[in-house]
Amino acid sequence: MNTHRQHDGRDQVVKEYSRIAQVYDTKWSFYVEATTRETVSRFSLRPTDRILDVGCGTGALLHRLAATHPDAQLSGIEPVAEMLAIARRRLSPAIQLCAGWAEYLPFAAEQFDVVVSCNMFHYIRQPVAALHEMRRVLRPGGQLVITDWCADHWACRVCDRYLRLFQHAHFKTYRERECVRLLQEAGYVVVDIDRYRINWLWGMMTARVTKDAA
Ligand SMILES: C[S@@+](CC[C@H](N)C(=O)[O-])C[C@H]1O[C@@H](n2cnc3c(N)ncnc32)[C@H](O)[C@@H]1O
Repeated sequence: MNTHRQHDGRDQVVKEYSRIAQVYDTKWSFYVEATTRETVSRFSLRPTDRILDVGCGTGALLHRLAATHPDAQLSGIEPVAEMLAIARRRLSPAIQLCAGWAEYLPFAAEQFDVVVSCNMFHYIRQPVAALHEMRRVLRPGGQLVITDWCADHWACRVCDRYLRLFQHAHFKTYRERECVRLLQEAGYVVVDIDRYRINWLWGMMTARVTKDAA
């Protein structure tokens, strides 16, 4: 067993999501539908843009984008084999899916017009490293779009505390100002964050940033 992986939480993520993969889409149907809809409504795509979904899970966001942007070049990366297998069954073979982690993206620099990530950020132990990686694979002028829980909402703070104690895959839920600071540390300059609720419980935020054309 690789102790580095135990400490950085990756083993816990694999354990948790391999356990729940078969029920994820039904158990979380409302939440996944609402958060992927809210996320894609917050960025614009040109018809043939190259898009990477980091932590794509069972492929819900890519499925939505494939329906509205049939000519876009869609890719997803996901570390848990059982989640990725469901995404493969759901999505067209034209969509490139691969196994991997946000902190170590297996792509050359400047390959994507848009990098998106939905409901994944609270698992990452090294958020700035992951944001650097996302920046590296974006072309200059490309957009990064991240949706996750927002700890400025009291219910998310309660969930965060509970999950830190009882679900070891979970790492941290951020407030808006913490999210801005992480993005700035990773080299993004202008950060635009929307806070919203999808129901009485879930308070979300979507951050949008552009990689400077250096
Ligand atoms: C709540 S699910 C969200 C899946 C999908 N994005 C969605 O919105 O339905 C979180 C996903 O993030 C993945 N994940 C967790 N840590 C990750 C990391 N460090 N890099 C990439 N993906 C990660 C998990 O394996 C899981 O599939």
